Amino acid sequence: MHDFRSVFLDDEASELVLLDQTLLPNELRYLRLSRLDDIWEAIRTLRVRGAPAIGIAAAYGLYLAVKNGKPSSIDDVTRMVREAKRKLETSRPTAVNLFWALQRMEQRASQNLQHDGSAGANASDAVANILRELRKEADLIRDEDAMMCRKIGEHGLSLLKPGMGILTHCNAGALATSELGTALAPLYLGNERGYGFKVFADETRPLLQGARLTAWELSRSGIDVTVICDNMAATVMKRRLVQAVLVGCDRVAANGDAANKIGTLGVAILAKHYGIPFYVLGPTSTIDWACPSGAHIAIEERNPEEVTTAWYSKRMVPEGVPTLNPAFDVTDASLISAIITEKGIARPPLSESLGAFRN
Ligand code: MRU
Repeated sequence: MHDFRSVFLDDEASELVLLDQTLLPNELRYLRLSRLDDIWEAIRTLRVRGAPAIGIAAAYGLYLAVKNGKPSSIDDVTRMVREAKRKLETSRPTAVNLFWALQRMEQRASQNLQHDGSAGANASDAVANILRELRKEADLIRDEDAMMCRKIGEHGLSLLKPGMGILTHCNAGALATSELGTALAPLYLGNERGYGFKVFADETRPLLQGARLTAWELSRSGIDVTVICDNMAATVMKRRLVQAVLVGCDRVAANGDAANKIGTLGVAILAKHYGIPFYVLGPTSTIDWACPSGAHIAIEERNPEEVTTAWYSKRMVPEGVPTLNPAFDVTDASLISAIITEKGIARPPLSESLGAFRN
């Protein structure tokens, strides 16, 4: 469906290949990274971004850290897995998919280390075996993501009607995942089936994921997309130009509170005011069952220069005036009409309905 991929492995070259999202929409360039520090930097600076894509990049990053570290013993592998996991976990704090993917990789390693240890395999066979297993687990995380996106798309589309106006915030599309995206998946499937959606993409200050990325990927697929400044969402709703809001999520608490790109909360409040359904779409890997409510979600605070200077030829905030730059906010469960996952649609009360998707 798309002629680009946000993240993939070139195993022969032992490199992670990333579409550098900081350069879009002006330049389509792939980065080839083999060093853990560079993969960490790519996640940190949003060259690869979006909760599922971060998880996939981290999984391959851990695999490559071990492979390229050329371990000669099981102890080496154990140490490398631990160090890579620790390092990658510090790249970004909010999207739970990062921690979830790294946890899966560590678990796969430790299961096989135990097995090879008790089977008495020689060191080089055991190392080769564990590398194969790590590669398989990272591939699985990517393939499961592609499958989940498609299912999320089908469930999401069941709530929409042809010709609808749709508002979205940030980018929860193909760039943010392995394939179709989450919030944008119903739009791609609907487009194939002639739904004729009219999409409004919030530009999404300060890093412009809506203007740069959502508009790029939707327009590339021939979907009707109009970019609006974030402060125009109320007017678009008041004019009855949109009949549903679709957004992604970075971490959903067990009670249904959902962290997503800064500005999502405001859109949800507006949608409630105008009686427009507000849908959060994401894989169940984005639900953090250990997190009871949004109050417990760590919110990333980013460099003030993203607010004061990025995109401008001159600084646009007086010197010495402080800025706030939280990268995410938490939308209260009470503002969410439904959470759409690969396992189905959870409706309020979300603290009860989400439970059906556990395990
Ligand atoms: O800071 P970003 O660009 O990584 O934030 C991305 C979002 O907020 C997305 O909506 C979310 O990760 C879901 S992506 C399918």
